[in-house]
Amino acid sequence: MEQYLEFCGIGKAFPGVQALKDISFRASGGKVLALLGENGAGKSTLLKIMSGDLRADEGTIDLNGATLALSSPDVAIKAGISVIYQERQLLPAMSVMENVFLGSLPQRAGFVDYARLKADTQAMIDKFGLPIDPEAPVASLSVAYQQMVEIMKAYRRDSTVVAFDEPTAPLTDTEIEILFNLIRQLKDAGKIVIYVSHRMKEIFEVTDEIVVLKDGQLITTLNTAETNEQDLIKAMVGRDIGDTYARLDRNKEYGDVLLEVKDLTTYAVNGVSFTLRKGEVLGFAGLVGAGRTEVARAIFGADAVLSGEIRLDGELVSFKTPRDAIDAGVALCPEDRKLQGLVLWRSISDNVCMPVLKKLKKLLFLDREAERELTLGAIRQYDIKTPTTEKIVTELSGGNQQKVILGRWTSEKMTTKILILDEPTKGIDVGTKAEIYQMVCDFAKQGIGVIFISSELTEVINVSDRIIVMHNGKITGSVERADATEESVLALAMLD
Ligand SMILES: Nc1ncnc2c1ncn2[C@@H]1O[C@H](COP(=O)(O)OP(=O)(O)OP(=O)(O)O)[C@@H](O)[C@H]1O
Ligand SMILES: [Mg+2]
Repeated sequence: MEQYLEFCGIGKAFPGVQALKDISFRASGGKVLALLGENGAGKSTLLKIMSGDLRADEGTIDLNGATLALSSPDVAIKAGISVIYQERQLLPAMSVMENVFLGSLPQRAGFVDYARLKADTQAMIDKFGLPIDPEAPVASLSVAYQQMVEIMKAYRRDSTVVAFDEPTAPLTDTEIEILFNLIRQLKDAGKIVIYVSHRMKEIFEVTDEIVVLKDGQLITTLNTAETNEQDLIKAMVGRDIGDTYARLDRNKEYGDVLLEVKDLTTYAVNGVSFTLRKGEVLGFAGLVGAGRTEVARAIFGADAVLSGEIRLDGELVSFKTPRDAIDAGVALCPEDRKLQGLVLWRSISDNVCMPVLKKLKKLLFLDREAERELTLGAIRQYDIKTPTTEKIVTELSGGNQQKVILGRWTSEKMTTKILILDEPTKGIDVGTKAEIYQMVCDFAKQGIGVIFISSELTEVINVSDRIIVMHNGKITGSVERADATEESVLALAMLD
């Protein structure tokens, strides 16, 4: 029998926002259904209702005709629903096999049967063709393989429904292929798969049906084979956005050398040398773990420099802390909003104004009006979906949290010479991505030197003026935009 999951009139409100309104559609077994929509459209909220983390105000979810009582995450799992979030729900110190079988470890005479645990896990690893050791602690695996462990967990529970919330955001192109193979296996096994992503290419590669949400409402349901990227973007954004890259209004003249990095060596990078000119957008490509973030952190004074030189405007600098770097005009918009970027339990306003508080003081007091103006500026510039400047950051959708970080590091009060953007479009919807690319070009036009780190090859190749490629903590090549192709950059990214 073909399985199906039916959403019937789902509604959910938060203070000041109707996150979902009368959502009804059907997802079928043996198919991958994409949930698509701008930041704040309601995708994660819908998944959280499925996983029992949130309760719907209205409507029901039926599995094969029976209404589910999704009162808690445990109940949802028992009902056959696994939702895989980006924040992993794994125990890092425990082994792969213990994580996969957590909650139902095989027993023998009252003890865990480790031999069977290992054999059963190995069988699953072989089935999926993964190069993982069942006894390795989860913490020793890359993010990509940690995600595989989560999928094995869902598979072991024999979940009928497996949903993914932006699973590829932390992965590089090669790792994504591994994930897609697993998703295809789930599909072939007749599972109902729901897939959320902002990457159009993936939607066409791995999904069969598409549900488009906008401002909490269902706009349209489509067959992937019968639509195209332009039409999808139009449905999502409500307008045509054209060819993003061709439209970019770039800076055409560079100034003097702004940053000169020579033989930089830290715990993670080895002998890195490059220069950045005023008004230049310098891309950094590479696989996850190539050392791009670590180069950025060393320049920003966040990681110790073991040897080598960094010159800013010709002067030797050695920043002991990020504060020193910020005061000298270096801004870093970090890759991981949860760990380094935001104070999640504070308001948008506190987060945006944090690096420029000194400039917002009137006598000894904080100028509240100036603070509000600056925050409203960021909200407008990045189209952050929020009812007020005082909303707590955890209550924003993922993409909107990312926009708050951008707002913080690019606010008009910053006197930035060098702007380092580490994966700035992670989790950002297509419409806003296009705006961010143009902003990068606008910063360059103002004479700022921009370092643009991205794992999305198409993006880093098309936005940057020049692309530096790294592998294993070293630079393996440097290519001009005009000469760069995805193949040539990828080849350099894997070069030893
Ligand atoms: N716990 C919460 N408290 C208040 N508002 C919330 C909460 N969770 C979500 N919201 C709001 O509900 C709306 C939908 O958010 P949701 O996270 O579902 O969006 P999304 O489609 O997943 O977006 P993104 O692509 O950015 O991840 C947003 O306006 C968000 O601010
Ligand atoms: Mg989301």
